[in-house]
Amino acid sequence: MSTSTSQGTALITGASSGIGAIYADRLARRGHDLILVARNQSRLEELAARLRDETGRSVEIVPADLNDDADLRRVETVLRTNTTISMLVNNAGIGGAAPLLASDVDAMDRMIRLNVLALTRLTYAAAPAFVARGGGTIVNIASIVAISSETLNGVYGGSKAFVLAFSQSLQHELAEKGVRVQAVLPGAIATEFWDVAGLPVSHLPAEIVMAAPDLVDAALAGLDQGETVTIPALEDKSEWDAYDAARRAMAGKLSRTEPATRYKAVSEEVRRAS
Ligand SMILES: NC(=O)c1ccc[n+]([C@@H]2O[C@H](COP(=O)([O-])OP(=O)(O)OC[C@H]3O[C@@H](n4cnc5c(N)ncnc54)[C@H](OP(=O)(O)O)[C@@H]3O)[C@@H](O)[C@H]2O)c1
Repeated sequence: MSTSTSQGTALITGASSGIGAIYADRLARRGHDLILVARNQSRLEELAARLRDETGRSVEIVPADLNDDADLRRVETVLRTNTTISMLVNNAGIGGAAPLLASDVDAMDRMIRLNVLALTRLTYAAAPAFVARGGGTIVNIASIVAISSETLNGVYGGSKAFVLAFSQSLQHELAEKGVRVQAVLPGAIATEFWDVAGLPVSHLPAEIVMAAPDLVDAALAGLDQGETVTIPALEDKSEWDAYDAARRAMAGKLSRTEPATRYKAVSEEVRRAS
């Protein structure tokens, strides 16, 4: 066992492969104890054994299908009751590459339940507990499709737009209460995600694909730098800042008693014609 002090426990969903497994590795090496959540128990056991061995940290596994109500509530209970937990990485998610007309609505339903509902319920379990404990960190894995809506499947993009908007709202609400919230927007990352989504990663241009360790290291660097939104592939951060500033500047102009002038002219015409 490690003799160094724990940085607190990080609960990571979707830790059995890809981005989540790399978060587990990196957070253990940063001194966190871990609780790893996913469906594939043997993969979780293998990863936990390796990380205990290599880092000396305490690593528990919670095999759970976050699309199953009872399993999801079990993980919520862990977040509410385990007072060592100081970090939640909401990473479990599935994607889709097929457009609406070629997609099965039940598969879209499962995607929304995992990407949106499970992430929301876990956040609702963690956030009040973190506030009560005087602090904590929530990392939500979104995607660049949160702001690039025309890329990939529209339900996937919509689910990740939810993750970004939800994270921004939480940052606003929880910052004063000691809870940090970071949304991470990966571009294409070489993981099994693409096989599950129905488009093998080998079919993408190599120059747009990042390795999962590079993505996670960049996301943690962004967290260390105090970023609330981290887009690891975006070279010029001022482009995101300008985009976000434009959105915020518009916010005060979006709700008024009168419709905008351009609509008034049209409604006048309709009134005169009737
Ligand atoms: N790869 C990319 O290009 C990319 C880009 C942007 C964003 N992302 C996001 O990154 C996150 C991680 O994806 P990844 O690329 O690392 O893909 P991945 O290797 O397929 O990992 C997905 C993880 O989610 C878990 N998972 C899937 N369904 C689950 C369920 N019902 N209950 C519990 N766990 C479940 C999987 O484990 P089990 O199968 O063991 O349950 C696995 O550990 C996702 O939110 C994804 O949307 C990925």
